[in-house]
Amino acid sequence: MAHVSDLIEQDIEAYLHAHEHKSLLRFITCGSVDDGKSTLIGRLLYDSKMIFEDQLAALEADSKKVGTQGGDLDFALLVDGLAAEREQGITIDVAYRFFSTDKRKFIVADTPGHEQYTRNMVTGGSTADLAVILIDARKGVLTQTRRHSYLVSLLGIRKVVLAINKMDLVDYSHEIYDAIVAEYRDFAKQIDLHDIVPIPVSGLKGDNITAPSSHTPWYHGPTLMGYLETVEIEDRLQHQPFRLPVQWVNRPNLDFRGFAGTIVSGTVSQGEKIRVVPSGRESRVARIVTMEGDLGRAVAGQSVTLTLEDEIDVSRGDVLACTSAPPHVADQFETTIIWMADEPMLPGRPYWMKIGTKQVSATITEPKYKVNVNTLEHLAAKKLGLNEIGVCNVALDHPIAFDPYAENRDTGGFILIDRLSNHTVGAGLIHFALRRSQNIHWQALDIHKGSRAALKGQKPCVLWFTGLSGAGKSTIANLVEKQLHALGRHTYLLDGDNVRHGLNRDLGFTDTDRVENIRRVAEVAKLMTDAGLIVMVSFISPFRAERRMARSLFEFGEFFEVHVDTPLAVAEARDVKGLYAKARRGELKNFTGIDSPYEPPEKPEIYIDTTHTSSEESATAIVDELRKAGMLGPAG
Ligand code: ADX
Repeated sequence: MAHVSDLIEQDIEAYLHAHEHKSLLRFITCGSVDDGKSTLIGRLLYDSKMIFEDQLAALEADSKKVGTQGGDLDFALLVDGLAAEREQGITIDVAYRFFSTDKRKFIVADTPGHEQYTRNMVTGGSTADLAVILIDARKGVLTQTRRHSYLVSLLGIRKVVLAINKMDLVDYSHEIYDAIVAEYRDFAKQIDLHDIVPIPVSGLKGDNITAPSSHTPWYHGPTLMGYLETVEIEDRLQHQPFRLPVQWVNRPNLDFRGFAGTIVSGTVSQGEKIRVVPSGRESRVARIVTMEGDLGRAVAGQSVTLTLEDEIDVSRGDVLACTSAPPHVADQFETTIIWMADEPMLPGRPYWMKIGTKQVSATITEPKYKVNVNTLEHLAAKKLGLNEIGVCNVALDHPIAFDPYAENRDTGGFILIDRLSNHTVGAGLIHFALRRSQNIHWQALDIHKGSRAALKGQKPCVLWFTGLSGAGKSTIANLVEKQLHALGRHTYLLDGDNVRHGLNRDLGFTDTDRVENIRRVAEVAKLMTDAGLIVMVSFISPFRAERRMARSLFEFGEFFEVHVDTPLAVAEARDVKGLYAKARRGELKNFTGIDSPYEPPEKPEIYIDTTHTSSEESATAIVDELRKAGMLGPAG
């Protein structure tokens, strides 16, 4: 490695000690390549001398070869070279660089600045203490400057360095600098950014980066590096209430039961009273165990294992908290969601929500509006697309411990994960819990599914018919119901076309509406099985995610997915309702199989190939399957 500090040669022990105890500043840089961001970061890395020697040699060679800077080092090459090493997440692309000076250690999240990279900024910014927002002095405050600043504010970053770059190209003009600063401050006030330090710099020439520039005699503030090295990072995490999301329960033998995780805020001491959230049970800390031995006290950032004085129930995902200011508990929230996937966010579709160490199922119940990040305008929205930001209500299948994001980024921030692909598709910030979730309770009833079913002498279940329009779902379902009826079974058939005349008459055929269509009919089917019925659902139900959601509402063994498989060409040739012809003529939009997808089941309980089996044979085969599964009882 290049020569880092004279101390290394003089007293390596002292150097290592100092290095270990230096404070750490995490910051994010916002700007595009055109603003000179790569050059600026390259300059910081170079001036802090944390460049590996081989990279330095390569840089000198490259600079001479490429020659954009007339024999000077081209720092942009350095950063772009490092970019090849970027950690390539599936959906996230943020380069974290580590460097250090004698005074401090730094982690900089370098994120691409174009609009389509909003998600990267969110990922990089969620742990940052400070943002360096770059402005090209020739261009001043641009739309993207506003967008970056809005995101910075949204993510809860309070300190901003406004690096007005390329001052060399405007002759180090004091007037231009002042005008940009005034305009920016004006805007920043609107989005609640107040702690702003403007610095006139040239990444290329090195003005005001590590040493005050002789070109800007009118500027008396700190250099960029000087400020980054000395800016106070509040120990706000340590002053917040104690939170430890439990990562795992460590139980090596019967005598030891410890709860391991990283303290995300506050401090904890041996003997202190703590509360387990959401259960609300309380106990005292018996020991704080670490690899290096027991501690009397531990603080935010440390990974520890706590043992408690009482044997109380604690599981992975629970939060251990102080009793004086415990987190809230709820299962419905207002949130801001930043969508990060190419596939749009669909209300009603269940996603995994990961908050702290807890994973729960979450659905967006109501998108309220999306924000035009360039103008801050609120726009009506039914769904969110890639990089869109919206305020949405969210409902979970379990209550969780949380704090508003504004109070605690760790216990108030979450990610959303697609349940089929397991990709991260969104990030979110909790605003507050919705009251209604606190005022609605589950009512325990004395007559239950079992008793209702017993009276009918049957086992309730659902036959979920899925397939293209015209595949024959309704015809077969109708024949199945006739057979069951003849056997004295109590049944009901929910048919897509029919339900769309009543309960779902407000829904069309966009992806969003289809998701809601299936959500509602699945809930109705669930109520009907609860009533003790054998229910047939005959809906195209084109998406795997919603069929999986429907399945999850039922008990094991109650849900039979029936794939009525008919090739598109065959369904289209039949075209009983003339809809395929209309769709082909372009008179009907979003038609399944034509310009809207059908995702066939991967492992249906029952598979019907209508090209080889008649409807009657299919119906008989299905009733046989029910009998085999014991759903029709001894008399069936
Ligand atoms: S689903 O996709 O939301 O499950 P559903 O089963 O309720 O669809 O309704 C499908 C029926 O609506 C079809 O059988 C057809 O008669 C009619 N329909 C009208 N427009 C469309 C369309 N764009 N796509 C599919 N079916 C349509």
